[in-house]
Amino acid sequence: MLEKIKQLAEEVKSTVAQTADEAEQLRIKYLSKKGLVSQLFDEFKTIPNEQKREVGKVLNELKVMAQEKINELKDSFQASSHDQGNVDLTLPGTSFEIGGRHPLSIVKNEIVDIFGRLGFTIAEGPEIEDDWHVFTALNFPLEHPARDMQDTFFIAQDPDILLRTHTSSVQVRVMEKQKPPIRAIFPGRVFRNEAISARAHCIFHQVEGLFIDKNVSFADLKQTLLYFAKEMFGQDTKIRLRPSYFPFTEPSAEMDISCSLCGGKGCNVCKGSGWVEILGCGMVDPAVLECNNIDSSEYTGFAFGMGIERITMLRYQIKDIRLFFENDVRFLEQFRSAD
Ligand code: PHE
Repeated sequence: MLEKIKQLAEEVKSTVAQTADEAEQLRIKYLSKKGLVSQLFDEFKTIPNEQKREVGKVLNELKVMAQEKINELKDSFQASSHDQGNVDLTLPGTSFEIGGRHPLSIVKNEIVDIFGRLGFTIAEGPEIEDDWHVFTALNFPLEHPARDMQDTFFIAQDPDILLRTHTSSVQVRVMEKQKPPIRAIFPGRVFRNEAISARAHCIFHQVEGLFIDKNVSFADLKQTLLYFAKEMFGQDTKIRLRPSYFPFTEPSAEMDISCSLCGGKGCNVCKGSGWVEILGCGMVDPAVLECNNIDSSEYTGFAFGMGIERITMLRYQIKDIRLFFENDVRFLEQFRSAD
């Protein structure tokens, strides 16, 4: 029996196949239920017990070797079938999904781009701030009710450490480091202790702008913002400035744009008025300049700040601010081509 096994092993070792079909025939010849190897296993049952240990070992080795050999032959045909031109290399590949930018990033980049064309550079500041940079250096007197305009998340008290409620804090950071002329914008995340609703969120994004130089006037502010509005919402867009109040600007204004949806005729987005508010702005209060060691008799400046969510909602007619933070791909994938 050992001799038979040896012979068959030699035979299997030297077999070759030309096609996948032939390899399959070899599998049937040796390894199927009635194949030559299986026949030896039948014969194995009949040999005396004292031989079983030795023969069994060799027989098992034959079986494993035969399986490996035949698999090897089969694999070689699978691999080479590509070379034989069975694959059409001109077929389009399988496409895979790629991600897209978040709508807030798309609009932020656009804002940065528009002001970039006017020579504004970008600066950033920390999200965790102190009272000085968010309030005091911006002319919010201690205990002044203006501090309640923005409900603040405090992290520590005395000295006050807090999440910045607006990107105006970056104005102070920049004035500390840089002497005029200053022409920069500050995109970033801000935090307010507000109830979350379709129109408000406790986390949102702003872009702040600051321009300080000799002879900067309100006309410069107005022209800069008109340029921005037209680039962002279309060349027919009109702007309107309404008097307002911020502690760090004097005079202060809020800017409306003619409703980009109804063109000013009145619809539910502009609540029938034809105008929608998009930002706050004003001439930098001389007290703020002095507080940051800039001579207010020599320099003047303007500042503005807008919510990126608000601009994005107007731009894409999004009705609920919470959609930006849910990260539902069905919402996000609609903006893939907008980038
Ligand atoms: N910081 C103000 C806000 O968050 C916006 C603003 C910025 C107003 C700069 C005037 C000048 O509402």
